Amino acid sequence: MKKRVDILILLLLSLALAIGNTFAAPPVFDVDREFYPLYPSLIKYQKSAAEFTPPEVCADCHYKQYNEWTGSIHALAFTDPVYQGELNLAVQKVGHEISRQCEGCHSPAGVVTGEIKGPGNKGLSPMALAGVSCDICHSIVDTTHWQTPNHEPENGSFVIRPGVDTETGPELRKRGPFTPSEECGMGFHECEESSLHLQADLCAGCHQVYHYESHFPLEATYLEWKHGPYAQKTLLCQDCHMVDFDTFLRTASEFRKPERHEYRHYFNGANYLLYYLAAGAAKKADDEDLAANIMNKYDMAVARLKAAAELEISPVYRKGQLAEIKVRVKNIRAGHNLPTSLTNIRQMWLEITATDEQGNVIMSSGAINAEGHLPENARLFNSDGMGNDFHFAVDPWVITAFSRHDTIPPKGFKDVYYGVNAMETPVVKIDAKLRFRQADQKIAEKLLTNVPKDIDLEAVYGLTEVPALPVVNMVSKEVRFNARM
Ligand code: HEC
Ligand code: HEC
Ligand code: HEC
Ligand code: HEC
Ligand code: HEC
Repeated sequence: MKKRVDILILLLLSLALAIGNTFAAPPVFDVDREFYPLYPSLIKYQKSAAEFTPPEVCADCHYKQYNEWTGSIHALAFTDPVYQGELNLAVQKVGHEISRQCEGCHSPAGVVTGEIKGPGNKGLSPMALAGVSCDICHSIVDTTHWQTPNHEPENGSFVIRPGVDTETGPELRKRGPFTPSEECGMGFHECEESSLHLQADLCAGCHQVYHYESHFPLEATYLEWKHGPYAQKTLLCQDCHMVDFDTFLRTASEFRKPERHEYRHYFNGANYLLYYLAAGAAKKADDEDLAANIMNKYDMAVARLKAAAELEISPVYRKGQLAEIKVRVKNIRAGHNLPTSLTNIRQMWLEITATDEQGNVIMSSGAINAEGHLPENARLFNSDGMGNDFHFAVDPWVITAFSRHDTIPPKGFKDVYYGVNAMETPVVKIDAKLRFRQADQKIAEKLLTNVPKDIDLEAVYGLTEVPALPVVNMVSKEVRFNARM
């Protein structure tokens, strides 16, 4: 009997200890709500009577930068219908608080001033609609990358301050890379020299997107870059994305920094789909100049994608007989993983066809079907998200880990092997394509059909239905191998 009581006491004791331990364990991600009043966005605002200025005003004196920036993905970051569709779903599923997280990066001014009240564009000021505009980047005074729950840049971890109060009233202060001249700002704004604008840290807080609660890195472009060869050689985001296409080619191919006078405000990446939609809207609004400007950015994005990768195809023989085809996909010019950012949504895949001497198909993989989907056996270089229940998930408020991550690191490669039966033919012809699109057809349809009611896709973009998403062939290659060695 005594023994039984002892065991019981022991059990109770260990139970108490276990409970005590869970209470005592320090949280992995500690959120300081006082330090981050706009949580789940980590943006911090130094408020004064000096207000934000919309880009059209900056354009009066900085037309060149304005013309480069307008129609860019940064200019479209808030009005982007794909974004608005996802935001609308997020608010429906999680509640209003999550929208602060999204808007902290897609329209920071709209969040810190409290102007944006929910999804949709209706009644918003030009500054809120302008997304990541001039007065966002040039008002960033600091970052809080080390105080964040992850101690890494995430979810808008920067400090924004468009100006200060002085004895004579509010004064605008714009921060840029140079030592200011006497006439800098021409009385409209003061100038402050900022070394942050010559660092990738300026981009980091927005190009590390973390789950709003569990702080899992959903998009990690900045850290992919930082842990790769370009960062080692101080080649920054700016050196590939704030230059024209030829200068980007030189940066990436020769590991050479652009000259001072070569910087531009294009922020051109890979999202040709959004340019395509925005150019359609500009045409509908009879703004031919803007439409042409945006189509130029579309061409740049397609060219950039085509310059990013290379394919190497080689035969694998067993006992003198062709048994497999090896395809090596190389990331030759992206400064981060290829693809990057929304890796669970973006699709980059191999489409391979092997034919015999008569042209009969003996193996094929990765052809899109009539509904716009990829077959099960397609080799994709992206990721699969999963939720807390370890099940497959797509939405960013559900994903708390990746079950698969097959993106290609900068200057790295991935090999794929395809079995072929070449017993009946003397030669095998291989037709290989590396293909890219922004999303699976079904996902694009889901987001675009969920845009808030005040955005009329037909009136604004001329869309009556979601068109088949355009696919870019990043690389195409044809080779022939003998079936016997
Ligand atoms: C830390 C900054 C940040 C936060 C927070 C953030 N985003 Fe984004 N978002 C980005 C960046 C950067 C991209 C561009 C990635 C790319 O081009 O691949 C992006 C792209 C997107 C896209 C793709 C747009 C397109 O046209 O393909 C959608 C949709 C989107 N975000 C929705 C959301 C929603 C909804 C939330 C909130 C739940 C959110 N984002 C929170 C930075 C952020
Ligand atoms: C995403 C952040 C970002 C946005 C948005 C942005 N800039 Fe800049 N801007 C920079 C960076 C970074 C530099 C420094 C580039 C370099 O190394 O020369 C810069 C440089 C400048 C300069 C110095 C001269 C030059 O062109 O290098 C001016 C003037 C300027 N920006 C004005 C503007 C205006 C006007 C807009 C809006 C139309 C704008 N910027 C939008 C980040 C931004
Ligand atoms: C009344 C004219 C005027 C307006 C309006 C104006 N600027 Fe300027 N700004 C100047 C002049 C002049 C300079 C110095 C010459 C130059 O760099 O182009 C300058 C310089 C700058 C610089 C470079 C600072 C440096 O030395 O690194 C930045 C950044 C900048 N402005 C941002 C802005 C932004 C953002 C806006 C809109 C909110 C804006 N400016 C509106 C006249 C103006
Ligand atoms: C050596 C050149 C280079 C550098 C440095 C570089 N990039 Fe890129 N970036 C590219 C190329 C090429 C692409 C197009 C292929 C791709 O999507 O990865 C790209 C694409 C992107 C995209 C679009 C992804 C998509 O799927 O739509 C974003 C966002 C981006 N880069 C942001 C950044 C940021 C932020 C940095 C710095 C942390 C950076 N890049 C550094 C070359 C570079
Ligand atoms: C305030 C947040 C913010 C800052 C700061 C910022 N970005 Fe972005 N950036 C975004 C968002 C949001 C998007 C995507 C918008 C969308 O797709 O709707 C984006 C898109 C881009 C794209 C286009 C990606 C594509 O798919 O084509 C490039 C390139 C890019 N950013 C580069 C930069 C660089 C370089 C810097 C630093 C000089 C920078 N960004 C700073 C928020 C930011």
